[in-house]
Amino acid sequence: MDLSIVGSGYVGLVTGACFADVGHNVVCVDNDPRKVESLQAGKVPIYEPGLEEVIHRNVSARRLRFTGSIKDGVDNSQIIFIAVPTPQQASGEVDLSYIEKVAREIAGVLTSYRVIVDKSTVPVKTGEKVAESIKRYNRHGAEFDVVSNPEFLREGCAVSDLMHPDRIVIGAQNAKAIDLMKKVYEPFMAPILVTDINSAELIKHAANSFLALKISYINALSAICEASGADVEKVADGIGMDRRIGRSFLYAGIGYGGSCFPKDIAAFIKISEQLGTPFNLLKEVQRINATQRERFLKVIRETLWVLREKKIAVWGLTFKPDTDDIRSSVALDLIADMIKEGAHVSAYDPKGMEKARELKEMDGVHFVSSAMEAIEGAEALVIATEWSEFANIDLAHLKQKMTTPIIFDGRNLFDPKTMAQLGFRYHSIGRASVTPQ
Ligand SMILES: NC(=O)c1ccc[n+]([C@@H]2O[C@H](COP(=O)([O-])OP(=O)(O)OC[C@H]3O[C@@H](n4cnc5c(N)ncnc54)[C@H](O)[C@@H]3O)[C@@H](O)[C@H]2O)c1
Repeated sequence: MDLSIVGSGYVGLVTGACFADVGHNVVCVDNDPRKVESLQAGKVPIYEPGLEEVIHRNVSARRLRFTGSIKDGVDNSQIIFIAVPTPQQASGEVDLSYIEKVAREIAGVLTSYRVIVDKSTVPVKTGEKVAESIKRYNRHGAEFDVVSNPEFLREGCAVSDLMHPDRIVIGAQNAKAIDLMKKVYEPFMAPILVTDINSAELIKHAANSFLALKISYINALSAICEASGADVEKVADGIGMDRRIGRSFLYAGIGYGGSCFPKDIAAFIKISEQLGTPFNLLKEVQRINATQRERFLKVIRETLWVLREKKIAVWGLTFKPDTDDIRSSVALDLIADMIKEGAHVSAYDPKGMEKARELKEMDGVHFVSSAMEAIEGAEALVIATEWSEFANIDLAHLKQKMTTPIIFDGRNLFDPKTMAQLGFRYHSIGRASVTPQ
């Protein structure tokens, strides 16, 4: 099929590449000329495992190309997917101006029947607004259908998630659009759930809220474990072995971040309030998430006493491993807090350094080129992201290099008993802190 994707970011680019990989002809549209130029030159502007290979393979096969022109995309596709940002406004509400602009632009160049699919994460009832907007600016009076097709990929394994989805949700009200959408997804051989548009939109916010809730649940339990001497990893194993619950997303840590959960939870709270049915449980999810970082910082302060002029190494800048995405990363918040208190932060991340360096809040951070270089002469190490590179580090060597072997592990990468035996003072989440034996 001939498809176009408007917005070539983490979602649009991966979706476009994977659609091309199963045999569709795809045009990826973006209004950032630098991004388009770089993609046309064969450079992939984001890091996502396996993505570069899929893009190169499909560009060579002439199934995938990039353009800055929305008209090019609309003219050359039966279905247009919208994958532009839906950021959070100060009020918590979603900024829908990107979606509205794209809807207007598509309407302006629409000359014959097209299916317009919203893949961005949007509040329930946005599909109605998109349809209204297209109708208003539809100069040629072309026929169209609006469909909601929320995306569930996880950064860090987006290609594999796209190629092997748990389910495809298609929210539509018209048989013709549903048939076309089913054809797009046929090669993926995944279960397809067809719903009305409002339900499809709601599914995305409900899914992300539930996952955030699961994280906050285990994080709240981690505080109880610390206070009672229990081990949150064992508790999570015990709960997670119950198939009704499952172990995934039961990893205690310094809280969720990233470009989705914080904004989607805030949006869902707002949406529920506007509908007159406030979802207050989600406010508690937010509160626990913020508390988790504060609790971690408190342990750092209590242990080091004064942070001023202390050299603190930080491993991890991205909001999760296997991505270069640093948007709303808890690691960056932690670093900003420590810098404010006068610490000298030396930071390393396998993929997130380039983007972190550009941030004003990171002024003063000493970015280094390896995990070992970061801890050279450090008085403490803070582990903020669970990259496997950190979990596989040579701990004896690490201890030798540090001035004082103190580790604050926000991602529970190591076994406390082993750390004590190796001579570390080791603090983690939801488990007893240990001192050298
Ligand atoms: N990142 C994720 O893991 C993820 C997962 C599921 C859903 N989502 C949702 O998908 C949407 C996109 O997220 P993302 O992470 O890909 O964002 P992103 O910022 O990585 O990419 C968005 C792209 O859209 C482009 N763009 C903006 N306005 C445009 C316009 N008028 N015309 C053409 N291009 C335009 C930007 O230049 C950018 O390249 C959001 O609604 C997000 O909530 C994201």
